[in-house]
This record gives sequence, C-alpha cells and structure tokens, in this order.
Amino acid sequence: MMLTLPKKATIIEVGPRDGLQNEKLFVPTEIKKQFIASLRGAGIKEMELTSFVSPQWVPQMADAAEVVFECLDSLTRNFVLAPNQKGINRVYMTNCNAVAVFIGVSDSFNQRNINKTTQQGMAELIPLIQELKEKHYFVRACISTAFYCPFEGKIDPSHTIKLCHEFVEAGVDELSVADTIGMAAPNEVYSLFSQLKTTFGNILLTAHFHDTRKLALSNILAALQAGIDRFDTSAGGLGGCPFAPGAAGNVATEDVVYMLERMDINTGIDLNKLLEAIEIIRPHLSRPIESTYFRLNTFAN
Ligand code: HMG
Ligand code: MG
Repeated sequence: MMLTLPKKATIIEVGPRDGLQNEKLFVPTEIKKQFIASLRGAGIKEMELTSFVSPQWVPQMADAAEVVFECLDSLTRNFVLAPNQKGINRVYMTNCNAVAVFIGVSDSFNQRNINKTTQQGMAELIPLIQELKEKHYFVRACISTAFYCPFEGKIDPSHTIKLCHEFVEAGVDELSVADTIGMAAPNEVYSLFSQLKTTFGNILLTAHFHDTRKLALSNILAALQAGIDRFDTSAGGLGGCPFAPGAAGNVATEDVVYMLERMDINTGIDLNKLLEAIEIIRPHLSRPIESTYFRLNTFAN
C-alpha cells in the first residue's frame, strides 16, 4: 500500500522562542537576532520570534520587545506569544501582525504555566482573540498537553477537541496542537489529528512535538497520514517548557527537514544553511546539540 503524502510541508520554526525559553543562561539579544536572521536565510518562512510573557516567569524572554523591533520582516510570518492583556498591549506597541496565544488542556499544567485554570485562561483569551481579529491580526492558538499532562496523565481527546472548538469559535486562524511532554504514540497522534482534520477542515492545523521519548519523527509521519502538513520544529532540537517537567527539546528542524525531503516533500529549507544557523546559537547553550542530522554532519559535538 502506498503512503498518501503531501507534495510540500510548512515548517514553523520555534527555536528562538520555545527553543530558548528554557535556557538558564541569558542568550545575548544580538545573538538571538543573528540566529533569527540566519534561520530566515535557510528558508524559514514562519517563525516564533519571542514571547511577551512576564520576565519574572521567563527571564530569557525579557528582551522580547527589542527582538521584535529588530527582527520583523515582511517576507516571513513572525509570531510573538502573548498570554494575557498585558502581553497583547505589548504586541500593539509593535508592527507585529501575527500573535500566538497559548493554553493547556489540563488545569494542573495551566496553574503552573499561567497561574490560572483552563476556564479562567480561556475567559481572558477569548475577548483578546476577538479584538485581535477585529484589528486583522493573524491569530494562532497553541494548545499544550493535548495528549498527556505531566501532572494529570492521559488527556481525554474530547477535552482537547472541545478546547479547539472554543478557539475556532473565537476566530483563530490556526490551531497548533502540542504533545508538550513528548509522550504521545503515533496511533494517538493519527487518531486525534484525523478527528481535528474532519472537524476543523477550514483552519490551519499544525502539529507540535517534543522528542522526549524519540517518538517525534514517528508522530510526524502519523500526522502526515492524517492530512497534516504544518509542523512546529526547533533548530538544533532546543527547547522545552520551563513549567512542564519532562518537556525535553522540540523535534529538531534539521531532522524533520531531512526526513521530509527524503520523502520528496518539499520544505524550501536549505539544510547546510540551517546548520550554520545552529552554529550561531550553539556556543551560548547550556547543553550540546543532540539532533541526529547535526551529529552526523558536523564535527562539533
Ligand atoms: P501572574 O504572576 O499570575 O500575573 O503571572 P500578574 O498579572 O500577577 O503579574 C505578575 C507580574 O508580571 C507583574 O509585574 C506584571 O506586570 C507582570 P510586577 O507588577 O510584579 O512588576 N506581567 C507581565 N510582564 C510582561 N508581559 C506580560 C505580563 N503579564 C504580567 N505579558 C502570567 C501570569 C501569565 C503573566 C505568567 O504566568 C507568565 O508570564 N507565564 C508565561 C509562561 C510561559 O511563557 N510559558 C512558556 C510558553 S507556553 C509553551 O512553551 C508551550 C508551547 O510550546 C506548546 C507546548 O509545547 O505545549 C506553546
Ligand atoms: Mg513547546
């Protein structure tokens, strides 16, 4: 039986945001800017630049305004994350036109990540999304703990779908559905994304995998089979959520691009230039780059 596959796929690079937010040592703003520019040079067309969150909660993102000011361009869709009214007000002070809001399915995760329950978080986000849409912003909703929660275990898929419904009714353009702690198995991924594809055919659907248990590439294949062609990935496999124990690095952009291109799925990304981008950030990281493609194609580690 032949696999049914798309001819091209979109990579949403989350390295400058999800990748760096968990780094303990502050990465100089100038290096972040060079990293972002270099990722663009490798062909990245959609990217999370940074997040307008509380610097007390995530010190690495304290320079978000400066990063946004310096790094917006008109050829790339540049996302900035915002958790609340204050974050959105900071967005309004920039020329950024694409915002990512975020929430988890599970209360226990949200209490630790945004200091609110799911219901409290949604009550704050929905009017903010409606206002952003009135102002013609592109709005992406990032849904954490869509499969498993580090505190509550397996999540009932109907709870994830219900949350997606609430976001779609509020008017979002994209749902990015995340396996925050890298615990989902390919059959669970296929099942949930098939349901999402059937239910939300008109919304951009994106899969966001962390590679904690080395299942991320298998999960991407399962998501492709369910009709998904957008993937959040992080150059060098950096990342993790500081408030989700077990959220190891995101799936590495270079490993995903390598797999997709080998399957004749065009990503528009130049792997050699991607390695150059990783080399910019690598000396500033607290841990080695562990992606397979990087390891096999450099002498760095
Ligand atoms: P709080 O402490 O409940 O909020 O935090 P607060 O309203 O009491 O504010 C506390 C302080 O933060 C105040 O400052 C506020 O002004 C300030 P003070 O008066 O004490 O000097 N503050 C802000 N400053 C800048 N920008 C803001 C902002 N908001 C408040 N937007 C809050 C609530 C939501 C702010 C906090 O919990 C927070 O910032 N959380 C963000 C956590 C985070 O960034 N997590 C990672 C992103 S999610 C993720 O990675 C998952 C994802 O990748 C998908 C997946 O893999 O699952 C997307
Ligand atoms: Mg993440």
